[in-house]
Amino acid sequence: MSKENKTTISAVGSPETNGAPGASGEDTLTVTDNRTGRSYEIPIVDGTVRALDLRAIRVDEDDFGLMTYDPAFMNTAACRSSVTYLDGTNGVLEYRGYPIEQLAEKSSYLEVAYLLVHGELPTTSQLADWQHQITIHTFVHENIKEFLGGFRHDAHPMGMLLSATAALSTFYPEANDIDDPECRHIQTIRLISKMPTLAAFAYRHAQGQPYVYPDNDLAYSGNFLNMMYKMTELKYEPDPRLERALDVLFILHADHEQNCSTSAVRSIGSAKPDPYSAVAGGIAALYGPLHGGANEAVLRMLRRIKHRDNIPDFVKGVKDGKQRLMGFGHRVYKNYDPRARIIKKAADDVFEVVGRNPLLDIALELEQIALEDEYFIDRKLYPNVDFYSGLIYEALGLPVAMFPVMFAIGRTSGWIAQWREMVEDAEQKISRPRQIYTGERSRDYVPIDQR
Ligand code: CMC
Repeated sequence: MSKENKTTISAVGSPETNGAPGASGEDTLTVTDNRTGRSYEIPIVDGTVRALDLRAIRVDEDDFGLMTYDPAFMNTAACRSSVTYLDGTNGVLEYRGYPIEQLAEKSSYLEVAYLLVHGELPTTSQLADWQHQITIHTFVHENIKEFLGGFRHDAHPMGMLLSATAALSTFYPEANDIDDPECRHIQTIRLISKMPTLAAFAYRHAQGQPYVYPDNDLAYSGNFLNMMYKMTELKYEPDPRLERALDVLFILHADHEQNCSTSAVRSIGSAKPDPYSAVAGGIAALYGPLHGGANEAVLRMLRRIKHRDNIPDFVKGVKDGKQRLMGFGHRVYKNYDPRARIIKKAADDVFEVVGRNPLLDIALELEQIALEDEYFIDRKLYPNVDFYSGLIYEALGLPVAMFPVMFAIGRTSGWIAQWREMVEDAEQKISRPRQIYTGERSRDYVPIDQR
């Protein structure tokens, strides 16, 4: 290959490479464009090439340059992030470097929320201050009660949560000053503290029951149970085992790196609206059955199986391709989802309080059979977070429509941590993918009577 036929591409604005490709030539990718015979040496940084570097690969001066085509972002990193580490092959999940197993066992949801948002575990005084700040912001404006009352009696609570979260931006118009760190902080506190209140109000609306105000004597999850279930008693006292199980569920759902809803929050946030609007977009994504709704499908499946004796037939149907074993398999995890192990333990704790749900026995046996079956082993299909979470929610007395709402409460800290990281990232700009245009071009308008 002649020397002139090789172009060395400098990394576009990459701080890691200072704009220069790897000095040794080892951390580069050499590609030949067979349309022109020209070769290009492209820097590789952190196991990635910059899509923008490919723009230099052109047929001629008028060519726009080479793009990548990646529907559903199957192989594209859209950001640098230090929030959550996920290794699906080995079943590893860490928040800010701390294994999920340790956090679920030793931490509280609010401590985890602090960790996600600030990057470090809090000291005693930092945690006390954080908990205090969250606790004193749990009330919502009285007008929110009024507009929630305008929803139909059978409105889906997720739709109500989504709308109420978006509406919060109108109560805090100053929230769009997102370049001010102080402002970002107060909205962070408000979002984490008010989400359970909005969620519980949406639930009570569906029940036709009066809203219950937050009780500032209670911790985060205990207060949520209070707003959900308090009736005529003067003071609601949450069962500590249920409170803990709920806290663990919130911890497990707090973040999961660049999933669909988090990507939605980042994408909307990149246009710089207030964070309520961005998080409302995250809730909208989570509303979808492919994201926040799989645990409901698990529950339906277990009800359909009905009895342990029917499991072999059901599994045969799965292997014959007639149905899927819901709560099994994951796009990223090709190993036991670490969250599923922890949830299984939380389920035991909850059933100890509320009594054993016969569906749990079906789930346990189904899991055991599937884990020993070649079909599932060959395809690396293991239980995911949704296999047991629906059972716990049902045991807590929640209707299935509330399942994604529970997910949203926990995920709020992750969304806001990722949003803050995005806002503070000098490399980020307004999110704006490219397309491959496949439509007609340059047609003359045809008057309606001539079509
Ligand atoms: N039951 C039976 N077979 C399955 C299942 C399942 N749950 N999941 C995947 N397979 C098979 C699939 O038929 C295919 O087999 P073959 O190679 O013979 O065609 C192979 O495994 C690969 O499946 P895939 O559909 O290409 O895998 P994917 O990565 O696109 O799908 C998934 C991932 C989660 C959508 C899928 O596993 C699934 O539908 N699972 C059930 C629904 C579920 O539990 N979803 C919750 C995911 S966790 C939520 C979260 O983390 O937010």
